Amino acid sequence: MYIKEVTLENFRNYEKQKVEFNENINIIYGNNAQGKTNIIESIFLCAFGKSYRAKKDIDLIKFNTNNSSVEVQYRKTDREGKIRANIKEKKTFFINDIKQNKISDIIGKINVVIFTPDDIEIIKDGPQRRRKFLDMMISSLKPNYIHLLNLYNKTLEQRNNYLRQIKYENKNPQMLDIWDEQLSEYAVNIYEYRKYYIEKISEKIESFHSLITKSGKEEIKIKYISNSNNKEKFLENLRKSRNIDIKRGYTATGVHRDDLMIYVNSKPVSIFGSQGQQRTAILTLKLCELQIVKEEINDTPILLLDDFMSELDETRRKSFLESIKGNQVIITCTDKIKLNTNYSEFFVEQGICKKIKEYN
Ligand SMILES: Nc1ncnc2c1ncn2[C@@H]1O[C@H](COP(=O)(O)OP(=O)(O)O)[C@@H](O)[C@H]1O
Ligand SMILES: [Mg+2]
Repeated sequence: MYIKEVTLENFRNYEKQKVEFNENINIIYGNNAQGKTNIIESIFLCAFGKSYRAKKDIDLIKFNTNNSSVEVQYRKTDREGKIRANIKEKKTFFINDIKQNKISDIIGKINVVIFTPDDIEIIKDGPQRRRKFLDMMISSLKPNYIHLLNLYNKTLEQRNNYLRQIKYENKNPQMLDIWDEQLSEYAVNIYEYRKYYIEKISEKIESFHSLITKSGKEEIKIKYISNSNNKEKFLENLRKSRNIDIKRGYTATGVHRDDLMIYVNSKPVSIFGSQGQQRTAILTLKLCELQIVKEEINDTPILLLDDFMSELDETRRKSFLESIKGNQVIITCTDKIKLNTNYSEFFVEQGICKKIKEYN
């Protein structure tokens, strides 16, 4: 699939802006703080229903204005469509001009895979960042998964509240059985989804890794760490940690503690990997994501590469470009990049985006 056009109104530093993309390579360049990433962010917003970097939705509205909108027109093999986000105090989404009741209803209509320099956090930061990576990918493919995560998180919150009521208001601990039963039901379902997709990554990770490193010398592996793999065991864990949970006022065990570990030559790359190895690992992981999305939707997802090419040395850049052929790519960069192929080029300055090279 590909994006034909993005229309922004009072979005970030744009007042009124239309950008028309071609279905292959699009390069957006310009100095820092001119509005390149804002374009990527607007597309992401219409794909996932939220920004990946704004803390609050109102941050997306152009300073000194009251409301903002983004419209993304896309084409899939057999049809065209458009998604619009209106942002005021609240966000409202429209698919082909029809108002959507739930934000989750728009997720997965536009399939994008984003690459940013911050992706390295997936390797370097804590488990939460890795769960987020996984959850975003699965959510974009399986709407039911979003629902499941919401149910789990709600139940977890209720259990935590009840834990504190036991501690401070002498409520009956026996009542926890109800929350435990519910929580374990959802946890095992979430576990199954995550396991399935981590296995998919695992099947692909070695071949992408050798493609990037151009050698088969290093061995890469991914492993899912969870203690929620079956209901009975999980219930037992909850019961075992019940007293500690009551003391602390929160639930210490569950899929909200899951992790995934990446090993290079049998050592966790987050701890023992060199910077180069970590970068290769993250690029490999993202390429696995791209491939999985492609297979699941049976179409080519859109690639958003925000300042990403600058992270890659010449060899990695070449292998990378090789492996993303056939997808629409929207690249932002501060230095003009030259490619020996056809592409559109845009120049961004102070919230104005001009096409300076037409794809032909
Ligand atoms: N709500 C907003 N209203 C107006 N300008 C904004 C808003 N949010 C961010 N900006 C401006 O957008 C610019 C950053 O845009 P960005 O796309 O991140 O830049 P870059 O070209 O480096 O990727 C900054 O100049 C910032 O002040
Ligand atoms: Mg930027």
